[in-house]
Amino acid sequence: MSDFSINNFFSLDGKVALVTGGSRGLGLHAATAFLLAGAKTVFISARKAASEQGIDQAVTRLNKLPGIKGKAIGIPANVAQVEDIERLVAEIKRHESRLDILVANAGATWGGPFEPTPDWSSQKVLDLNVRGVFNLARLFTPMLSSSGSKQDPSRIIIVSSTAGSNVPHVGEHGTIMYSASKAAAHHLARNLAVELGPRNITTNTVAPGFFPSKLANGLIEHLGGQDQLERDNPRGRLGEPQDIAGVMLFLCSRAGNYVNGEDIAIDGGVRLAAGRLTKL
Ligand SMILES: NC(=O)c1ccc[n+]([C@@H]2O[C@H](COP(=O)([O-])OP(=O)(O)OC[C@H]3O[C@@H](n4cnc5c(N)ncnc54)[C@H](OP(=O)(O)O)[C@@H]3O)[C@@H](O)[C@H]2O)c1
Repeated sequence: MSDFSINNFFSLDGKVALVTGGSRGLGLHAATAFLLAGAKTVFISARKAASEQGIDQAVTRLNKLPGIKGKAIGIPANVAQVEDIERLVAEIKRHESRLDILVANAGATWGGPFEPTPDWSSQKVLDLNVRGVFNLARLFTPMLSSSGSKQDPSRIIIVSSTAGSNVPHVGEHGTIMYSASKAAAHHLARNLAVELGPRNITTNTVAPGFFPSKLANGLIEHLGGQDQLERDNPRGRLGEPQDIAGVMLFLCSRAGNYVNGEDIAIDGGVRLAAGRLTKL
């Protein structure tokens, strides 16, 4: 008989997490999952605090989740800027001495035809999706490392995209630099897995397909709308909040202790389906 228990396999009891871009969309889904799974403190960060989709309204909603033992705390920060990340580290230390989970989720995209691409758009995408993620990992490593152990490592989850491994959109609404930035995020995670594994931190990537959100909704419309994309997907639907929640809980709980340097697509399988309508 194997001698282990699966009681509380997916529990995050007592854990402290930071989710960047936690005010809406996928980041808010992850923060919700962490609190429902028993996390003690979930920090959410984004640039805007008081706006309609800012941090404050998200913190209020998170703290009203039924049955939670922990709490959400919002800290505004632009994680494309290293000084703001340094301030975020200092502010988190004022509340908590440990950090068990870092979700580098905040991301930016830009779409348009190839040749007229304004250079600022490439800079914005790379600064947040690559440089920002690298700096987040780098500057939070001391806290994560001192919170992790051999049997229960701290976790870094980078929210990438299936666009990091396929070529999703070229032409009029092309997202070439976004796609390249997400490919870089995947490889950054593999490097961090090897660099930080010995320091009791695992690093993995989750790669969503389409989930309705402020970031994705424009592109969903350009591609024919939600109904069309649902018909194109092997599972017949787009992503829903619990789809992100389930994978996040797996990777951040005891269930995912030994997974390091992996990339998990959450897209219903549509990344594999290119060309299936080709007439032979
Ligand atoms: N939704 C999808 O279909 C999909 C698919 C594949 C991958 N993804 C990835 O999933 C992640 C989240 O996307 P989403 O769809 O949830 O987008 P979203 O709804 O637009 O949310 C983006 C979040 O990031 C924050 N943010 C943006 N720029 C920031 C910055 N410089 N510093 C700090 N926070 C910043 C936003 O708040 P503020 O504006 O207030 O800063 C917001 O909280 C991204 O990395 C995206 O590439 C999404």
